[in-house]
Amino acid sequence: MPLHHLRAGVIGTGFIGPVHIEALKRIGVQVNALCGSTRSAHALADQWGIPEVYGDYDVDALLASPNIDVVHITSPNKVHVDQAIAALKAGKHVVCEKPLGMNTRETARLVKAAERSDRVFAVNYMCRFFPAVLQMRAMVERGDLGRIMHVQGHFFQDWLMMETDYNWRLLASEGGKLRAVGDIGTHWIDAVGFILDAKAEEVFATLETFHKKRFRPKGEVQTFAKADPKKMVPYTVDTEDFASVLLRYGKADHGFADGVHANCAVSQVAAGWKCSLYLGIYGTKGSVQWEFQQPNEIIFGRRDEPNQILQRNTAGFAADIANFTDNPGGHPEGFPDSHKMHCRAVYEHIATQGKSPALFASAADGHYEVKVCEAVLKSSSTKRWAKV
Ligand SMILES: NC(=O)c1ccc[n+]([C@@H]2O[C@H](COP(=O)([O-])OP(=O)(O)OC[C@H]3O[C@@H](n4cnc5c(N)ncnc54)[C@H](O)[C@@H]3O)[C@@H](O)[C@H]2O)c1
Repeated sequence: MPLHHLRAGVIGTGFIGPVHIEALKRIGVQVNALCGSTRSAHALADQWGIPEVYGDYDVDALLASPNIDVVHITSPNKVHVDQAIAALKAGKHVVCEKPLGMNTRETARLVKAAERSDRVFAVNYMCRFFPAVLQMRAMVERGDLGRIMHVQGHFFQDWLMMETDYNWRLLASEGGKLRAVGDIGTHWIDAVGFILDAKAEEVFATLETFHKKRFRPKGEVQTFAKADPKKMVPYTVDTEDFASVLLRYGKADHGFADGVHANCAVSQVAAGWKCSLYLGIYGTKGSVQWEFQQPNEIIFGRRDEPNQILQRNTAGFAADIANFTDNPGGHPEGFPDSHKMHCRAVYEHIATQGKSPALFASAADGHYEVKVCEAVLKSSSTKRWAKV
């Protein structure tokens, strides 16, 4: 079935909702319905020519539409699980934003619902679909780097650096008990696990909230938007600004990444870094390094030969990432393209009735990331290693 026979509905019209819409339009999927606040859903639907608009957060009305096969959940974390279970019940395939939910109690319910249904379920850990990430995964799997010993990196942003920066993510009641780790750290952990083809089994973590008191506007502000400091009220912060996390990974089937050690710093108060997911994978034969803000190349590090810069869509990248890059070398691809490639992988899996590879994160993978968050919290409070 061609992808343009599949029809999507999108819940959530803030920062990431329109990124999903754009990605879907770029792969030829029809976006037939939108749900959000009445004003912003109508404005976004007008912009993109989306025929069905469900305002007032009327998710049930969107799910009842016969003109949707796949539902994209791009609303805040605290409503993901209920909306995703309702979408599965309505017979829709689901693409849900990360983190999958607020805690493992609720994400376990969702895993069960996804297992019981015959629908495709994906969590938008789209970093997997940067060609560089797929390339690093292929290099690890082929043994190009030898036996992987350790991984190091960070995910740094600065958009919540000031005490007057506000977003719903700062409140544990809205985004979950872990903020920096849940919001961006899980992207790093998922990407590293994907590259190694192994899961972290144990973590040791310290957390810090540098701004114990912050100021918030009386209303809501959209992600990355600025609020007027004169119209703000103080509140006590119950989520972390920074985390330092050690991880020990389990076994990988290919045998090149067993028992890998990793360390990762996560910060949303790191001046100058807008969205820097950096990782280095160190093996007995060589290393690879990659940075989200320079996504088109990786550095292949070697001890006794010159280091190399491998560029996307040149001889440096293997043919097995060919379906995940559309533009020739030297024509940069980045954040929006990773969403496009994620959507392509999910929709091809639906269209081929499961014949194309399921490289995307499943409900179980999303649940696992929430388990990692809970282990991080436990470790930081007990000051001991915690099992995931
Ligand atoms: N994969 C990524 O790279 C990525 C990037 C950003 C955000 N996200 C995730 O996407 C989700 C949304 O984040 P955002 O940055 O777009 O937030 P946002 O605040 O900018 O947008 C959230 C939208 O959801 C709407 N909304 C609120 N309650 C709702 C409800 N009950 N039903 C339907 N819609 C509702 C809001 O009106 C708003 O339009 C979060 O889970 C976040 O973690 C993922």
